[in-house]
Amino acid sequence: MLKFDFNNVTPSAIGEKGLDLESILSKENDRLRKAFDAVILNKGKGWQEWCYLPAVASEVIDEIIAYTDEIRRKASDFVVFGIGGSALGPMAVATALLHQKHNLLPKEKRKAPRLFVEDNIDPTRMQSLLDVIDLRNAYFNIVTKSGETSETLAQFLIVYDLLIQKLGKEEAKKRIIVTTTIGKGALYETAQKEGFKTYGVGKGVGGRFSVLSAVGLITFGVMGLNIKSLLKGALNMGVLASKPDFWQNPVFLSALIQTESLKRGKNISVMMPYSDALRYMSDFYAQIWGESLGKAVDNTGAKVYVGQTPVKALGVTDQHSQVQLYTEGPFDKVVTFISVEDFGQEVVIPKMYKDAAVNTQESVESDLWQKTDDNKPTVDGIACGAFMANVTMNKLLNAERVATEFALTKAKRANFNIIFPKINEESVGELLAYYMYQTAFAGALLNIDTFNQPGVEEGKLATFAMLGRPGYEEKLHEIRSKIKDRKYILG
Ligand code: PA5
Repeated sequence: MLKFDFNNVTPSAIGEKGLDLESILSKENDRLRKAFDAVILNKGKGWQEWCYLPAVASEVIDEIIAYTDEIRRKASDFVVFGIGGSALGPMAVATALLHQKHNLLPKEKRKAPRLFVEDNIDPTRMQSLLDVIDLRNAYFNIVTKSGETSETLAQFLIVYDLLIQKLGKEEAKKRIIVTTTIGKGALYETAQKEGFKTYGVGKGVGGRFSVLSAVGLITFGVMGLNIKSLLKGALNMGVLASKPDFWQNPVFLSALIQTESLKRGKNISVMMPYSDALRYMSDFYAQIWGESLGKAVDNTGAKVYVGQTPVKALGVTDQHSQVQLYTEGPFDKVVTFISVEDFGQEVVIPKMYKDAAVNTQESVESDLWQKTDDNKPTVDGIACGAFMANVTMNKLLNAERVATEFALTKAKRANFNIIFPKINEESVGELLAYYMYQTAFAGALLNIDTFNQPGVEEGKLATFAMLGRPGYEEKLHEIRSKIKDRKYILG
């Protein structure tokens, strides 16, 4: 199970910038209990249908596994078309659990087709995809909850047309899988008429909360991931998130830490995994946190213009980029680290230079990692990198995280750590559910509607109007009136 370390948000770690959680929990118990209940008592209801996804009936899972096993055997390439909540979850989970260079592995070393998750509609990206995939053996997963999103429909139309030209209509139809809301939207109607294999997204499951529905599971099944373990992890985190004793409930506590920090001017939330496998978890987080909590009005209709801006970072890469700002810039951030205890493999930095002295002294680091006699770091820097001789990259990475945590804490910057004992389906499922429940709790604490996205919808409608879709003439008129007097700087 994931572990959580909240020490560095408290006054004992960061002084007057810290949060006295005990006092907040006792003084504001009624408000906190109300927010907790608003999430937990509504599990499975309304827009919280996502809470029940991990407990989905095993017949449904067995059907998905049987179908996706078949696609895995047949496909050389598997392409996901979708955007926002329809792409970020699949991308994050696949990156976390597949070989880091999956698509580059020779075929005999890959247990699954090459995977391409394509969200953006940059034409050069689309052409590049078409240049590398083998259309004759490719399958396409078209994911759009609304069935109306212009980007995803454009990708579908381009590829279906090519498939028909290349393979003929009957074969082309077999290459398309659709995941959408059953009974609603343009893509659902098309799928019905064409006879595409179709999966449903529950009505009460919003895009950014849908990764554990068919939206993600079809891709994970095709890639040979253990869907049952992923769901088990999410289920376990749901149980933890439901614990009424807040000291036993790290999910509620972290939502409280974030929202209380926001109240005190920390309007930026940095997500910084020290793991390349988990790097797209920051993208998943950025969407669920930004789109769910960035709201103009609260539940009473009062204007609040609330939200905490998510920032994606990667350890150690961003130590050499953003960490200077985190350490010395404004006190406007809470940093969430994600660390990994066991990477499943070790890479040793060799002791290359004979003249490197062997460290016989006790070092501070020896408390943080266990050294064996034949694995002693060397000191004195006599030769290039000698102080790292025989140290594993695992230890180097984790030492750098601890060092950054130390530097931030010393500079009185709030930070906390989520610890992965190991990255596998179960722990990844836990992290996904943690993100979802944490967001739901934070939305309830801020008293806003976590599950709508009026700002995104406005842009979608404006896109329809700009492309001349019938029924959007008034919107087009509104757009034209706004841009008609715009002044351009001509080059
Ligand atoms: O979370 C959301 O609801 C959005 O980010 C959607 O996922 C995104 O806009 C794509 O929508 P759809 O799945 O309807 O194509």
